[in-house]
Amino acid sequence: MHPITDSFNRPLHDLRISVIDRCNFRCTYCMPEEEGKSYTFLKKSQWLSFGEILRLTKLFVRLGVTKVRLTGGEPLLRPQLPELIRDLNKIPGMEDLALTTNGALLSKQAQSLKDAGLRRLTVSLDALDEKTFQQMSGRRGNLFEVLKGITTAEDAGFESIKFNVVLQRGINDHAILDLVKYFKGSGHILRFIEYMDVGNCNHWESKEVVPSREILKIINEKYPIKPLGANYFGEVAERYAFADGTGEVGFISSVSQPFCGTCTRARLSTDGKIYTCLFATKGTDLRTPLRSGATDEELITVIKNVWQKRADKYSENRALFRSLKENPQKVEMYQIGG
Ligand code: GTP
Ligand code: 5AD
Ligand code: SF4
Ligand code: SF4
Repeated sequence: MHPITDSFNRPLHDLRISVIDRCNFRCTYCMPEEEGKSYTFLKKSQWLSFGEILRLTKLFVRLGVTKVRLTGGEPLLRPQLPELIRDLNKIPGMEDLALTTNGALLSKQAQSLKDAGLRRLTVSLDALDEKTFQQMSGRRGNLFEVLKGITTAEDAGFESIKFNVVLQRGINDHAILDLVKYFKGSGHILRFIEYMDVGNCNHWESKEVVPSREILKIINEKYPIKPLGANYFGEVAERYAFADGTGEVGFISSVSQPFCGTCTRARLSTDGKIYTCLFATKGTDLRTPLRSGATDEELITVIKNVWQKRADKYSENRALFRSLKENPQKVEMYQIGG
C-alpha cells in the first residue's frame, strides 16, 4: 500500500489509539492535581467500542498505517484490553503493535498482554526515589508496584522495554544519573523527553525544560556515549550508545530540536476523533459517521481529506503560536495519549 501524504508530503505511517481518557496517576506535567481542580472524563457510551476501533484501524491500514500504539490516559484501565490487542494483531499489514503505560497495573496484566500478542512495551518512569516519584505522579503512584510490574513484564517475555522520563527542572532533574545507572546494561532503553507545553493545564514554562544537550552532557561526563543512526524514518528519539557496549539511551527533543518535518503520526481519541498533531485545537469526528451507517469508502474519504489537508508544525512554530493573543484551547495529553 502506498501511504497517503499530507500538504508537506509527510506520509501517514503511525496510528496512536487512545483507548481511555481516565488515568490512575496525576502527573505534574500532564494532569496536575491542584486544589479545586477536577477533570471530567468521557462516559462509557462515548468510547469507541473495540469493534469500532478495529474497523477504523483496518481503514487506516489501507491508507498506509503499519504501526499502531495504544495509549490513554492509562490504557490498562480499559476493561478487556487484551481482546482488542488480539484482534488488532490479526489485521494484515500490521507490522508493529506497541503500548505506552504508567506501569501501575502491569504486574497484573503483563502476561495477558503478551499472550494477546502485544509486541512492544513503553513504560513511563520519572524517578527512582519514592519521594520524587510520589510528587510527579500526584501521590497516586506506587514506585514499588511499578518496579514489580516491570519485572513481571520481563518474565512474561517483553524485551527491550522503553522507559520514558519527562524531566522537569527542579523536580526530577537530579534523577538523571540514577536512572542511567539503573537501566544501563539491562537490555532496556531509557529515553529522556523534554517537558512540552501540551494541553492547557500544566502551566508550562520554558525555564522548566531541561534541554537534551544538557542531559547528554551530564550523562556523557560519567558514562561516555556516542551517536547512533535512527532505526526508521521519522523516529522521534535520537539514539546514543554507551561507549562500553552496555546499551543505548535516547533523547526526545521536541522543544529544542523539533521533528515536525518527519512527523507521520495520526492520533485517534477515545471518543473517535482523529487529531493530526499533539498540539491540535480540534479533531475530526469519525464516531458520528461510523454510528450513522457510513460505508468504509465514506469513512476513508473523511480520513483522506483530513490527512491530505494536514499542515501541522506546532513545535517548529512554538514561539509564534504561544505569542498569539487568541490562544485556543489545545487537546489534552490524556485525551490523545502523547
Ligand atoms: P517507538 O520509536 O516506536 O518506540 O515509539 P515512540 O518513540 O514514538 O514512542 P512513545 O509513544 O513512547 O513516544 C515518546 C514520547 O515522545 C511521547 O510520549 C511524546 O511525549 C513524544 N512524542 C511522540 N510523538 C510525538 C510527536 O509527534 N510530537 C511531539 N511533539 N512529541 C511526540
Ligand atoms: N511533556 C512531555 N511528555 C509528556 N508526556 C505526558 N505529558 C508530557 C509533557 N507535558 C509523556 C509521558 C508518557 C507519555 C504518554 O507522554 O512521559 O510517557
Ligand atoms: Fe501521567 Fe500518562 Fe496519566 Fe498523563 S496519562 S497523568 S502522563 S500516567
Ligand atoms: Fe507532529 Fe505536531 Fe509533534 Fe510537530 S508538534 S512532531 S506536527 S505532533
